[in-house]
Amino acid sequence: MAVSPVAKRGEAHEEREEVDIYSLDDLRGVGEATKEKLASVGIYSLLDLAAASPRELVDAGIDAKKAEELCLQARVLLVSSGFLDSELMTGKEVLERRKSLERITTGCSSLDNLLRGGVETQAVTELVGEYGCGKTQICHALCVTVQLPREKGGLSAGAIYIDTESTFRPERIYEIAKARGLNPDKILEGVVVSEVYNSSHLQLVVRELGRHIEKYKARFVVVDSIISHFRADYVGRENLSERQQKLNATLHRLLRLAEIRNVAVVVTNQVIGDPGAFYGNPTKPSGGHVLAHGTTYRVFLRRGPDDTRVARIMDSPYHPSDLEARFRITEKGVEDADSKR
Ligand code: GTP
Ligand code: MG
Repeated sequence: MAVSPVAKRGEAHEEREEVDIYSLDDLRGVGEATKEKLASVGIYSLLDLAAASPRELVDAGIDAKKAEELCLQARVLLVSSGFLDSELMTGKEVLERRKSLERITTGCSSLDNLLRGGVETQAVTELVGEYGCGKTQICHALCVTVQLPREKGGLSAGAIYIDTESTFRPERIYEIAKARGLNPDKILEGVVVSEVYNSSHLQLVVRELGRHIEKYKARFVVVDSIISHFRADYVGRENLSERQQKLNATLHRLLRLAEIRNVAVVVTNQVIGDPGAFYGNPTKPSGGHVLAHGTTYRVFLRRGPDDTRVARIMDSPYHPSDLEARFRITEKGVEDADSKR
């Protein structure tokens, strides 16, 4: 049985079944025709299936009852093989699982402190803020830092950049890597980019993401931005509920991928004017409740004085909400606000 970072999570389980989590061969009642249907929605392995929702299988032409049954079978097989925790866990087991959670340094100690050590795997972290506040810059920095060895705050792993706004800049990756004393060409090889043209394309790329994560040994995925295509493709109130439903499905898929593959996912989001605000901040994150509930952590960014940027964590169950991090965008990516320019 292949050993993955996820595999370590189940080491406490005593009874193990030999299951190939990278194929569908251990599933009952799945022939070539069903495999083809599953492949059409990006499902090639038990890991993919466990991260999918029955609804996606139905879209591929599989009958609803069978879809439910297959998704359940995948989870049961992953649990019995020790790759997933069982649905009910003791507090100790939850703690055990959290131990397999890792963090990626942003390269900026104040931001890392705010995030309790960096961007977490098994979670979706949302960076939200007005234009120019540094969302894309933080994502570029993380594409470099994830490749650092663990003792330097990285995971010695690759990055996948899903670019919806054509703002990915290899030159910037090169600059950050060089400024950090790394081999820029090698670092660029460790970043794969997917240019996404509309919201259906984004959904397709997210569906296939499990395979890309495997192929490129990625532990960091960024979707910059998660919302722009949805906003552009579903204009008007009459299309809002369909937009939110698709956005929700995309976010759920990302969260399940993060959990099952033990990767860190970062999504960026814009702010929109809030006509309901009479005082305080006249803007609010776009995406409504779906984004507010669909991500694990929400980091709010804004411009500060003297070309600095300020980050704060909103609505987190375990981060102090009054803590703020001040940082600056520099040739090294992002650094503490008091570092030299
Ligand atoms: P939107 O995508 O427009 O919503 O904004 P964003 O939050 O993604 O902003 P982004 O991360 O692109 O930040 C833009 C700011 O980063 C610019 O105003 C510059 O101050 C800074 N910046 C962009 N490129 C570089 C660079 O190559 N070097 C340095 N030092 N700063 C840069
Ligand atoms: Mg941007």
